[in-house]
Amino acid sequence: MSATGEFVSDIKEIRRRARQHLSEGAVTQNYGCNAEDAVAMLNHAVATEIVCILRYKFHAVCATGLASEAVKEEFAQHAKEEEQHLDLLTERINQLGGKPNLNPDGVSSRAASEYAEGENLIDMIKEDLVAERIAIETYREMVRYFGDRDPTTRVLLERILAQEEEHANDMHDLLVTHEGRPMLEK
Ligand SMILES: [Fe+2]
Ligand SMILES: [Fe+2]
Repeated sequence: MSATGEFVSDIKEIRRRARQHLSEGAVTQNYGCNAEDAVAMLNHAVATEIVCILRYKFHAVCATGLASEAVKEEFAQHAKEEEQHLDLLTERINQLGGKPNLNPDGVSSRAASEYAEGENLIDMIKEDLVAERIAIETYREMVRYFGDRDPTTRVLLERILAQEEEHANDMHDLLVTHEGRPMLEK
């Protein structure tokens, strides 16, 4: 059979399968991951984002000192962007037939990042940089997990990852500015 013929018979098979399991919505039979595992992993990221939103909001309100106005704005902007990440993740979980876990009980134990208040402006910036670096590592691992098996989730995670890298860079720049020396220590 020609390549075109094979494609046509595939289309017939795809049409047949599409009529089955309609309750699974966007999750079709050739979905490459285990949907439950995917949802569980995304729910860990949901908890991480919630912790990041709360930490940045605390920092945006509580940062004090002459130099802190611009930093407060940066913290507030990051809190907004972490909330956008949360929305993207919960919508994807819903598309995968799962339930976003927004239950406040146990959020910090499900999250990869920590809720650290910090004693002063430098501490706050450092804690945010640490949290961003944790987010970067976990999102990068998730991107590898989803790979070609679920390209939609992978692309979404890549978008979030790119923004977490920007956040880390912002925090690094603030740290250099406010500590007055480059961070050379390993
Ligand atoms: Fe985020
Ligand atoms: Fe971030």
